[in-house]
Amino acid sequence: MATFIWQDRYSIGDATVDDQHRQVFELAEQVLGASDRDELIHLFIRFFRHIREHFHCEEALMKRLDYPGYQAHVAAHDQMLDELIHLSSEVRGDRWNRSEITRFVNDWILVHIVEVDRLLGDFLADMAASTTPSQADLRLHSH
Ligand SMILES: [Fe+2]
Ligand SMILES: [Fe+2]
Repeated sequence: MATFIWQDRYSIGDATVDDQHRQVFELAEQVLGASDRDELIHLFIRFFRHIREHFHCEEALMKRLDYPGYQAHVAAHDQMLDELIHLSSEVRGDRWNRSEITRFVNDWILVHIVEVDRLLGDFLADMAASTTPSQADLRLHSH
């Protein structure tokens, strides 16, 4: 089963974020292919750690850029983390079902990366177009 295949059109134009999104896709694919509860528990830990680190990075980028959609975007991230914690505890308590996991992973990948993170990518593209390359480069890479 290969549902989550990375495509270049999903790139938002920030190398760190795009690499992390690629890894989210890989982990999502593994979560959907997990065959038992032990494997799922292990994968959810990796998924959670990776996503938390990724959100941290993406939020720092938005803050640096004074991104107007910052608050709504952070609220969406917080909701995802809450949902992921909830699902993890369902798996640990053996109360999980595969369709709930599939729904979460689909909503996360399709709705968030492809639609919500896309808006940040559009903002980055607009910013790059309205500043000189050296200015845009400085803002994007000043950590
Ligand atoms: Fe993201
Ligand atoms: Fe995001």
